[in-house]
Amino acid sequence: MVCLITGSSRGLGKAIAMSFGRKGHQVVVHCKDKIKDAEEVVSQIKEAIALKADAKNFTEVKNLIDIVIKKWGKIDVLINNAGITQESLLLKTTEKDFDNIITVNLKGPFNFIRAAAPYMIKQKSGHIINISSIAGMKGKAGLSAYSASKAGLIGLTLSTAKELGRYNIMVNAILPGYMLTDMGINSSDKAKETVLQESLLKKFSEPEKVAEFICHLSEISGITGQVFNLDSRII
Ligand SMILES: NC(=O)c1ccc[n+]([C@@H]2O[C@H](COP(=O)([O-])OP(=O)(O)OC[C@H]3O[C@@H](n4cnc5c(N)ncnc54)[C@H](OP(=O)(O)O)[C@@H]3O)[C@@H](O)[C@H]2O)c1
Repeated sequence: MVCLITGSSRGLGKAIAMSFGRKGHQVVVHCKDKIKDAEEVVSQIKEAIALKADAKNFTEVKNLIDIVIKKWGKIDVLINNAGITQESLLLKTTEKDFDNIITVNLKGPFNFIRAAAPYMIKQKSGHIINISSIAGMKGKAGLSAYSASKAGLIGLTLSTAKELGRYNIMVNAILPGYMLTDMGINSSDKAKETVLQESLLKKFSEPEKVAEFICHLSEISGITGQVFNLDSRII
């Protein structure tokens, strides 16, 4: 399978790319800026390429998809994983910060789906998995923009699943749980403590375990329009 994982230069995306790579799939390792990190991931996978594109920019995303189609002729799996966050109370969140988070986390996946779906429709198969967050279901003080973007991503998942099901394209969302990636580590100590308190297992999620689930889901046919909570905090 040809698998494109957005934001796979590091963190969860890297774990997903490695997981697909171990299974012998062809992997597109995508990043925004950190091409050296992306190339390092590629060096550990048998068949992979590293490509850069700003998820906010449809033209850049479309160019990336065209390169993948030219190289491998299809896209079987699209994992919309690239994302950003910023802790700030609503009254301290600027319009610019809000727009930036929504554009990367919500318009980004829209751009990738918009560019990849025509090829999936043509091949009458495909699996799109959007990485949302428990914050999009429960909300979180200090994360209004992020929570709104992740809630929006669930809406995008469900609507897209309804539109694309007739073409044998599955669209699902994952809530991965709190992971100590660059994004997770940069949160305040208080935020991390709260996560551990709420976690039934009293531990953080592991990117490798989340990646295994995503890889497995992408290989199963017949499941679409679902939101999978891999967080050990109850919604
Ligand atoms: N960490 C958690 O606890 C947690 C919990 C729930 C959900 N999630 C979600 O899981 C996903 C991965 O998170 P993570 O913790 O692995 O994040 P991370 O370590 O901060 O990595 C973010 C990735 O996204 C890419 N990226 C950022 N902005 C981009 C843009 N404008 N265009 C294209 N790519 C961009 C980065 O590329 P560069 O390397 O080039 O900058 C990087 O590869 C995110 O959607 C996040 O919201 C994370």
